[in-house]
Amino acid sequence: MAKVLITGGSSFLGGYLVKQFHRNHTVLATYCQNRPDANLPDVLWHPMDLTQERQIREVVSSFGPDLILHNAAMTNVDQCETQPEEATRLNVHGTEILVREARRTGAKVIYISTDLVFDGEHPPYAEEAQPNPLSHYGRTKAEAEHIVLKASQENLVVRPAIIYGPPVLLGTSFSEWMRHTWQKGQVTPLFEDQYRTPIFAGNLAEAIEEAVRKNLCGILHLGGADRVSRYEFGLYLAGVLNVAPKLLKRFSFRRADFTGRRPADVSLDIGRARAVLSTPLLGYREGIKQAYRAFAP
Ligand SMILES: NC(=O)c1ccc[n+]([C@@H]2O[C@H](COP(=O)([O-])OP(=O)(O)OC[C@H]3O[C@@H](n4cnc5c(N)ncnc54)[C@H](OP(=O)(O)O)[C@@H]3O)[C@@H](O)[C@H]2O)c1
Repeated sequence: MAKVLITGGSSFLGGYLVKQFHRNHTVLATYCQNRPDANLPDVLWHPMDLTQERQIREVVSSFGPDLILHNAAMTNVDQCETQPEEATRLNVHGTEILVREARRTGAKVIYISTDLVFDGEHPPYAEEAQPNPLSHYGRTKAEAEHIVLKASQENLVVRPAIIYGPPVLLGTSFSEWMRHTWQKGQVTPLFEDQYRTPIFAGNLAEAIEEAVRKNLCGILHLGGADRVSRYEFGLYLAGVLNVAPKLLKRFSFRRADFTGRRPADVSLDIGRARAVLSTPLLGYREGIKQAYRAFAP
């Protein structure tokens, strides 16, 4: 059994990764402020602040991972814009230290990046496309990608599209924001003119595990099979949850005022993943059905 260190096991995606990997690997998952109260007896949990070099060194040295799934980050686009130094410290410098420790101990690194490294001008984006982030968040992720890929040809950068589903441990997602808003009887304003290729977190975790089994390196795009607007996505989710369509309001992305700039269409081309993985990357309808089966009336 390979030893896998998962950073940010307390994040939304981290919970799915921990659940996916602990079945066939020895997992040490880290958290910073929020220790999950998870009933997974064979998973080791350890605090690790990625801005504290000594902590990183100690955790990597004592666990001795074969693989580091580097998933922790400052993820809030607006927060990264208003606190750029903190974002750079965590997302870039934290990655730099972790990658150095991985090299020292001979561990492979899989870095969880984002579709927001692209500017949205020329979708769909394949792995060879040139990143040109619009936000500080995107810039920190693109810089971290570079560090990971430069360190070793064995390393892998996974660029997920926007991720949805209910949390399995902690964290939240845009689909959960919709569900909670509707639960309160409130209306969700949803963009009808901004496009992504959303992926269900459970489907993403499965695909990442297969990428590990196949020892993939370089860059891998993992998005869902469909390009879809938030409004179309929300309409289908509302149908599955039996929520009245009047709780969804069409909204124009072009008229929205953001702190951190967002691209209009960062749909991912998932041709490489389709060619090398047998895990099917689900379209949003099938993904929503799987993710929200337990919530359907
Ligand atoms: N969510 C999406 O739609 C999406 C889309 C594309 C890519 N991604 C990428 O996927 C990864 C996970 O995203 P997510 O949305 O699941 O994350 P999230 O729920 O926002 O969680 C952020 C994680 O980072 C950890 N963290 C924060 N500050 C830290 C520090 N100083 N040191 C160490 N860890 C720290 C948090 O730990 P504590 O909570 O314990 O403090 C938490 O585990 C990220 O790399 C993100 O860029 C996400």
